[in-house]
Amino acid sequence: MASTTTTEQRICFCFGLFFLFLHLSISTTTDNPVPAAWPEQFHSVLFINRSGNLQKTDLWYDWPNGRNFNIIQHQLGVLKYDLEWNNGTSFYYTLDPFNHTCKILHFDVGILRPNWLDGANYLGQQYVDNFLCNVWEKVDFIWYFEDVITKRPVKWIFYSGMIAHVMTFEVGAVLDDAHWQAPVYCFSEAEPEPQMLARKSSFLSLDLEPAAVLGGFRGTLMSDMR
Ligand SMILES: *[C@@H]1O[C@H](CO)[C@@H](O)[C@H](O)[C@H]1NC(C)=O
Ligand SMILES: *[C@@H]1O[C@H](CO)[C@@H](O)[C@H](O)[C@H]1NC(C)=O
Ligand SMILES: *[C@@H]1O[C@H](CO)[C@@H](O)[C@H](O)[C@H]1NC(C)=O
Repeated sequence: MASTTTTEQRICFCFGLFFLFLHLSISTTTDNPVPAAWPEQFHSVLFINRSGNLQKTDLWYDWPNGRNFNIIQHQLGVLKYDLEWNNGTSFYYTLDPFNHTCKILHFDVGILRPNWLDGANYLGQQYVDNFLCNVWEKVDFIWYFEDVITKRPVKWIFYSGMIAHVMTFEVGAVLDDAHWQAPVYCFSEAEPEPQMLARKSSFLSLDLEPAAVLGGFRGTLMSDMR
């Protein structure tokens, strides 16, 4: 009698161990955190360091209206507007008191989708800018740091070394329609210039998804344009 109980207990114990290990192995393969999708509309102030050149960017992401705005203040320098439409057209311009300039570029891809971080590789946790963050890498192009608790982005780093620090993140903030209007001198020129990033991405022989990520960040990457 006593020996039967012991055998049953052993069997139970073995099964218990088995299920414990099964659970642990499933956890380790499926429990990697995934980045939060971007809210469909938000305003964010970014401090960006491009090899020591500093800029403050107001990012107005507006997915339902198919538009994205980077308003880029170079330190003690020019204020530049990068207005991007989901049909691939981007307007880069300056307004008074700066010289009136405008470039129109056309891209094969639209703005970033809210789920553009899907499929990013999880790299673990790290303290950045004094926040404990989950870290992901996407297509060797961007390293993305998200606050573990609030799930807000804290920082991202481009392959070029350019670093964006997220200073504010206002979910649901929308810029008035009146501001999404390129100046008249954008419409007096002839043909849009051939775009640069698609050429770059085909040069790297990347598929469409990386091209979308590259293209989605065209404004930030091209913020040195004069
Ligand atoms: C900007 O980045 C450079 C490295 O590219 C670094 O040396 C410098 O300290 C950074 N400046 C600021 C204000 O973070
Ligand atoms: C894309 O949309 C913008 C804003 O409506 C417009 O100004 C631009 O001409 C459009 N581009 C194309 C290629 O249709
Ligand atoms: C603005 O235009 C004037 C006249 O063409 C030129 O002399 C000046 O260098 C320009 N300024 C900038 C910042 O491009």
